[in-house]
Amino acid sequence: MDSAKEPVRDAVVAVIARDARWLWIRRGPAAAFAGHWAPPSGRVEPGETHAAAVAREVREELGLEVRARARVWSCPTHDGRFRLHWWSAQVVGGTLRPAPDEVSEVRWLDPPGMRALRPVFGDDLRYFERVALARLRTPRLELLRLCPDHQAAFAALHADPAVARWLGGRWTGGRSRRALRAALEHWRAHGFGCWMLRERASGRWIGRAGLRRSRLGGREETELYYALLPDAQGRGLAREAAGALVDVVLRDLGLASVAAVTLPRNHASRRVLRAAGLVPGGTVRHAGLPHVLYRLRAAPSARSPA
Ligand SMILES: CC(C)(COP(=O)(O)OP(=O)(O)OC[C@H]1O[C@@H](n2cnc3c(N)ncnc32)[C@H](O)[C@@H]1OP(=O)(O)O)[C@@H](O)C(=O)NCCC(=O)NCCS
Repeated sequence: MDSAKEPVRDAVVAVIARDARWLWIRRGPAAAFAGHWAPPSGRVEPGETHAAAVAREVREELGLEVRARARVWSCPTHDGRFRLHWWSAQVVGGTLRPAPDEVSEVRWLDPPGMRALRPVFGDDLRYFERVALARLRTPRLELLRLCPDHQAAFAALHADPAVARWLGGRWTGGRSRRALRAALEHWRAHGFGCWMLRERASGRWIGRAGLRRSRLGGREETELYYALLPDAQGRGLAREAAGALVDVVLRDLGLASVAAVTLPRNHASRRVLRAAGLVPGGTVRHAGLPHVLYRLRAAPSARSPA
């Protein structure tokens, strides 16, 4: 049969993270495109659900038991023969034992590590550089990965005196441009960062929230942060955004903990952190002032045993 006329088949890709590094394999000698680096993937068998195909492929290729959580993207393969359905998946058991015919090497990689791989399919990198975690939803909010188009909304938030008083003072235009560039670089370096918050009902930008690598109380942490315009405050929206980002930490990034610091008198922020499941753990010096340190640790069962 002429291959151009073959029907397009479905295949699945498993997106699996641990400590904000993602699982990549080098395709083994018996696999198509041997030697290519890619996340674990495989075709969907007739009658099989995508979630079952994700679990089966990862078990066969790597010996790990995973639970497919959500479909996060889809795209055609470069040759058009398959439609690839990308699924986030969580390791729930098993032992990493790659099948040598299928997998010649396994690595857990951050974005710079992925960029250094050769050979690799362009869309695999595109997923991690552009698509992953780019758009999250809560009942009332959309969280959109920060991009240069957000400069005006980003600057307006930090120019508002009622917001800036909690964040070390008002930013000039130059300071906010530098902060935006640094936040974009954080995304490139770590695969997560700052999201702008848009109210779904009105389409209005109402603030920002994010996760960043920080040194808090002398320790490297993943820090949760947020700020809302004054007229959006007091409606539980920060709580909604913080809850979504705690899910990202624990499920999508597979991190062991998330932390935050707040001024002791910032009662609204303290309520938000408690509602998101973080608990106070003492006082640390931050930006020259005493802050309360909050932390949430993942339950051991939620962590990948791989
Ligand atoms: C902190 C901030 C994001 C909270 O946003 P928000 O949308 O108003 O928060 P929510 O409505 O989700 O929840 C706020 C909680 O704090 C409570 N709260 C609000 N203002 C309060 C105050 N002055 N004193 C005590 N509690 C207060 C609310 O009643 C609510 O409590 P609940 O969870 O028991 O219902 C917002 O105040 C803000 O952007 N502040 C400026 C920037 C900032 O401080 N960022 C955090 C830096 S650590």
